[in-house]
Amino acid sequence: LIHGPNLNLLGAREAEHYGAKTLRDIEALVKGAAEKLGYSVVAFQSNHEGALVDFLQKESPNASGIIINPGALTHYSYALHDALQDAKLPAVEVHLSDISSREPWRQVSVTSPACIAQVSGKKETGYLEALEVLHKRLSA
Ligand code: DQA
Repeated sequence: LIHGPNLNLLGAREAEHYGAKTLRDIEALVKGAAEKLGYSVVAFQSNHEGALVDFLQKESPNASGIIINPGALTHYSYALHDALQDAKLPAVEVHLSDISSREPWRQVSVTSPACIAQVSGKKETGYLEALEVLHKRLSA
């Protein structure tokens, strides 16, 4: 479970877009739901693109799937796209806000082509939907 830049500030960031939950709340929500399905979750957040790439390279060999909210890196990080692709795992991209109805630059995702699905605009419940998508894929 990976979060990109500024998502450490969830709870204090524009609640109309991102909801009221903190990053810890979201991590606990995903961990609880994933454990019921038999998965364990390694959660990581960084404000640094390279740290996210390093984490993907280090953890992917031991992982079954990825849930990622890349934050603003969604819109321009080819490095993150490539790291997701090189991970060779099913990945689901999540956005708390509905990026398709915000500024034009936010409507573009350069990372989603490396993902099997994108869930956008469902606040924290989007992560549970992402988990379901991953679970379906992994049990298929
Ligand atoms: C976000 C949307 C991005 O455009 C923004 O930069 C974020 C959060 C979301 O969850 O809605 O940091 O990924």
